[in-house]
Amino acid sequence: MIKSMTVTALCLGLATILITGTLAQAADLQTIQLPKPEITKGKPLMQVLSERKTTREFAPKELSTQTLSNLLWAAFGINRPDGRRTAPSALNHQEIDIFVTMKAGVYRYDAKANTLVPVVSGDMRAMTGLQGYVKDAPLDLVYVADFAKMGDSQEAEKRFLSAADTGFIGENVYLYSASEGLATVVRANMDRTKLSEAMKLRPDQKITLAQCIGYPKAKESGENSAKK
Ligand SMILES: Cc1cc2nc3c(=O)[nH]c(=O)nc-3n(C[C@H](O)[C@H](O)[C@H](O)COP(=O)(O)O)c2cc1C
Repeated sequence: MIKSMTVTALCLGLATILITGTLAQAADLQTIQLPKPEITKGKPLMQVLSERKTTREFAPKELSTQTLSNLLWAAFGINRPDGRRTAPSALNHQEIDIFVTMKAGVYRYDAKANTLVPVVSGDMRAMTGLQGYVKDAPLDLVYVADFAKMGDSQEAEKRFLSAADTGFIGENVYLYSASEGLATVVRANMDRTKLSEAMKLRPDQKITLAQCIGYPKAKESGENSAKK
């Protein structure tokens, strides 16, 4: 009896420590000011197009905040004084928000302020997809359509247009990745219900696609292994 009470007390204590730890961690997540994007670098467009490809193997190396800033600007940053973006959007609704999922937690890219705004703490990378390699990428972008920004059209129309708008952003990420020698894969395969709950999305915020980005994993054979 005493033994089982001690075990219960221990479990409760452990649960308290874990919950307190999680809350403290959430409070620790702060807005990240990204450095100004470098927009005069990169390979010529035709070379980038010839190198664009899907890669599903990632090295653990993290992206620098400069690379992250460049990548997000390429994806859906502001490229004109009137606030228009690097990717087109139907009726210029600009309804796609990019959720940036990293080891520390999930942030939302604020293109105007060039910041990452904390959404939820904790490592949710594995939850952004259902394939084994997803957890290996240091960065997972989750594209979320905010239907509240899309006027009064029918839900089917909003789904179609936001899917199309996401495609342009995803391709921008593919092109930036090809230019920088990064590995990337755009993904539809995920548990949207579970991920929406974890990211605390409103019902009118709909996940469209996700995309892993990282450095390519070194090949085991050939030049790399010969150096070992
Ligand atoms: C809308 C869309 C959804 C995709 N979903 C997945 C996915 O869930 N998992 C995956 O491993 N690849 C996914 N891909 C990547 C494709 O499999 C890949 O683009 C295709 O095999 C062609 O290869 P390439 O991009 O190197 O030309 C998706 C691509 C698109 C455009």
